[in-house]
Amino acid sequence: MLIKNLYIENATEAMDIRITDGKFEKIAAGLTAMPGEEVVDCGGRLALPPFIESHVHLDTCLTAGQPVWNMSGTLFEGIECWEKRKETLTKEDVKARVNRAVRMQASHGIQYVRTHVDVNDPKLTALEAILELREELKDFMTIQIVAFPQYGILSYPNGKGLVEQAVKMGADAVGAIPHFEFTREYSVESLNIAMAIAEKYDKLVDVHCDEIDDEASRGLETLAARAYESGLRDRVTASHTTAMHSYNNAYVVRLMRLLKMSGINFVANPCVNVHLGGRMDNYPKRRSMTRVKELTAEGINCSFGYDDIFDPWNPLGNGNMRDVVYMGLYAGHMLGYDEIMGSYKFISTNAARTLHLGESYGIKEGNPANFIVMDAKNYYDALNEDAEVLYSYKDGKLIVENKPAERTVKF
Ligand code: FE2
Repeated sequence: MLIKNLYIENATEAMDIRITDGKFEKIAAGLTAMPGEEVVDCGGRLALPPFIESHVHLDTCLTAGQPVWNMSGTLFEGIECWEKRKETLTKEDVKARVNRAVRMQASHGIQYVRTHVDVNDPKLTALEAILELREELKDFMTIQIVAFPQYGILSYPNGKGLVEQAVKMGADAVGAIPHFEFTREYSVESLNIAMAIAEKYDKLVDVHCDEIDDEASRGLETLAARAYESGLRDRVTASHTTAMHSYNNAYVVRLMRLLKMSGINFVANPCVNVHLGGRMDNYPKRRSMTRVKELTAEGINCSFGYDDIFDPWNPLGNGNMRDVVYMGLYAGHMLGYDEIMGSYKFISTNAARTLHLGESYGIKEGNPANFIVMDAKNYYDALNEDAEVLYSYKDGKLIVENKPAERTVKF
């Protein structure tokens, strides 16, 4: 198959792509179709590696208002709402919702999802459901599962045992939530435990780290130090780190050295961080997104996630990563021309590093033919014009096709 006239990752020269046996065989300008070869002419549109959702909670998705709405919009009322909804959780219920959500994500060009799954559940109902879906959907969506202890490793009965059991059942990464543990000592020890489990079972680590406006919440320095000392380094991800928004600058300067040495990844969740952050503030109200601009400037890998899709912690959301890029650029003061143009990396290349997808991710000869085509010539226009993802190809197969919306102005 020959796909013609694509601007690959904002390039200004149009390229053609030949796909053979599900792989990029040749990428060059002016390729000629072979006799009988299927040809798709994209007419000068943007091709990007597939989008990646690097932080979402699929187990809670599409439950907003069930059975009650989060009226205050706080994280804590969200937990109360979820507690009520959790009573009715079944495997079928989780699978039905996640099946819908994954298709919504795919329709927006996503082919990889890292989902946190709450394992503070003696029955591990949601985990079982999503493990099954990971297998059932693998030809269309790569799903990574983080064993996420919502209430803590040490502050929930058998929290440690449940995380370890989840890993034995097949979770890809070990989670933790140091800022929610009862004490600072538990917080530090929970990170030691998470790292030890990851080392024992050769897993990745992704911690809900300091998701609070408390500037004294300093799980991050412990996580980074352990990542550095253990050699796990870029296998470790710090998600949220919203307290870093509130750290004093003198501390951040000292911390930044360790963060760089550690090699860890960061995930910010711009929409939900702004929505849940600053809730105890009067005015001024903090926006509570971690320091994406400064981390990026230091060469530290950052990606963006949706976190919550229409659930007790986010009453809106359809999984379209355009939303988080848009919010992230505004909240992070990153609306310079080059920053806008390159911002797709927060939901593609950078996220691929976080998920450890390796060299097989990306539009290059020899790689699996996974890519999307957007209805714009570059990402600046795609973001600004809310361009549609026209095609999503996985292993050379068209798995999603969208038509641009038609608008007719009568004057
Ligand atoms: Fe989260």
